Amino acid sequence: MVPWRRANGTIGGIVIFTEDITERKQTENALKEMEAHKREFYRRTILASTDGKLLITEKQEIAETAGPALARWEISSKDTAGEAIASIQQLIRETGMEEQSGYDFRGCVTEAVTNVLKHGKCGSISLHRVEDRLIGVIEDAGPGIEALALPDVALTKNYSTAGTLGMGYKMMIHFADRVYLATGPEGTTVAVEMSIRRSAPWQEDASSH
Ligand SMILES: Nc1ncnc2c1ncn2[C@@H]1O[C@H](COP(=O)(O)OP(=O)(O)OP(=O)(O)O)[C@@H](O)[C@H]1O
Ligand SMILES: [Mg+2]
Repeated sequence: MVPWRRANGTIGGIVIFTEDITERKQTENALKEMEAHKREFYRRTILASTDGKLLITEKQEIAETAGPALARWEISSKDTAGEAIASIQQLIRETGMEEQSGYDFRGCVTEAVTNVLKHGKCGSISLHRVEDRLIGVIEDAGPGIEALALPDVALTKNYSTAGTLGMGYKMMIHFADRVYLATGPEGTTVAVEMSIRRSAPWQEDASSH
């Protein structure tokens, strides 16, 4: 809006200019939709190629799935990480989790914590129980994993940007019942889920006789 002035300089009215931005808005919305579609395609492809084990998700969804924490630890060094893992080991035992599952679960949590120290510097771990499952949530405010690297992180053996083995995620996907991953420039949140009783039905039958 601009004032309209008479020849003598006094304001005689207002001139209003309007611009139709419908097309621009439509293009913006189409781009947003394409981006969301691409992310969903990624998410489903990674979920399917990991036999439903690795779920690319959002931090908020992980928080909702895990619910309130049984305990929480800050991790800023190998020492604080080691102390947290020792406490977790004790809590795993107290739940009565089957020994092999407990060992695998601790291994997955340790790997995610090692990733925090190696790639994200410092963060935290929290332990949650949802019905008959334990969920370890490991988060950091590091640089995150680039979206385009996610298929390699999930599936390609020896993929590492740190020059190490590059088997951490493959190991977690193999041993945990499920792995949730939310990552972006604001940080990474990983959750590893393990049933407290994980023996296969035929093993349960055998052990009950
Ligand atoms: N918390 C994280 N923050 C940022 N990047 C990460 C994080 N965790 C993993 N990454 C990225 O994902 C890649 C793969 O992780 P993964 O744990 O599978 O292998 P690695 O840590 O490089 O090696 P390894 O675990 O075998 O010693 C890493 O090289 C790194 O680029
Ligand atoms: Mg690793």
